[in-house]
Amino acid sequence: MIYFAHRGLSEHAPENTMAAFQMAVQAGAKAIELDVQRTKDGEIVVMHDFYLGRTNNGQGLLKDHSYQELSRLDAGSWFDPAFAGEKMPLLKEVMAQIPADILINIELKKPAIEENQDLAEKVVEIIHQYPRPVLVSSFDHYLLKNVQALDQSIPLGLLYCSNLIDVFQYAEQSGLKIAAIHPSIEYVSPALIQRAHDLGIQVNIYTIRRPEEVKLLEQWQADGIFVNTFAIV
Ligand code: G3P
Ligand code: MG
Repeated sequence: MIYFAHRGLSEHAPENTMAAFQMAVQAGAKAIELDVQRTKDGEIVVMHDFYLGRTNNGQGLLKDHSYQELSRLDAGSWFDPAFAGEKMPLLKEVMAQIPADILINIELKKPAIEENQDLAEKVVEIIHQYPRPVLVSSFDHYLLKNVQALDQSIPLGLLYCSNLIDVFQYAEQSGLKIAAIHPSIEYVSPALIQRAHDLGIQVNIYTIRRPEEVKLLEQWQADGIFVNTFAIV
């Protein structure tokens, strides 16, 4: 089972910062997960929330700010003063600085009311510029279709958070060729994992916080889990 350092090693360092990713690498991570969004001026940055403020000292929606504005924010102090001055990284910085043998799960985030601009295009461009193992996931399945249309060879992970009647039929009918499903732990069963494997699809599950869950998912032969710390694995 592969352990994705979720937003980096986010229990020990401010999420989605280079410090959190480097800490994951030092701890022996084989895979990391990060969230990306498009800035007002078309840069791709790494941050989870649509609104600034929780993980930095900014205000308002991320999408309304230029990269230059965002690059001035402190993305570390909210977590611990020891991380003061950590920046919101660009996706391309993470792709360049994290060793190329580490799998990066790039989760695409876009506010629902926002027009679909060129998030998929920009991310695919960056993936092509920095060859390495990647897995692109999103709760927004239109974005996955956009990625697929641009490059069919990029592995896709279908994120969801509900007890879908038949996720595999849904994916097929939507015209999505998925490498993996990424369900929330609440909706995982041995039967789901078995069916996925019968179809040649992997199952990566978020977000795991307890050692008992790790053990159970291992028994069920899950392919991957998203964790905020390696202390539970
Ligand atoms: O990709 C797994 C997980 O990150 C999905 O949820 O909200 O933490 O991005 P979220
Ligand atoms: Mg995420």
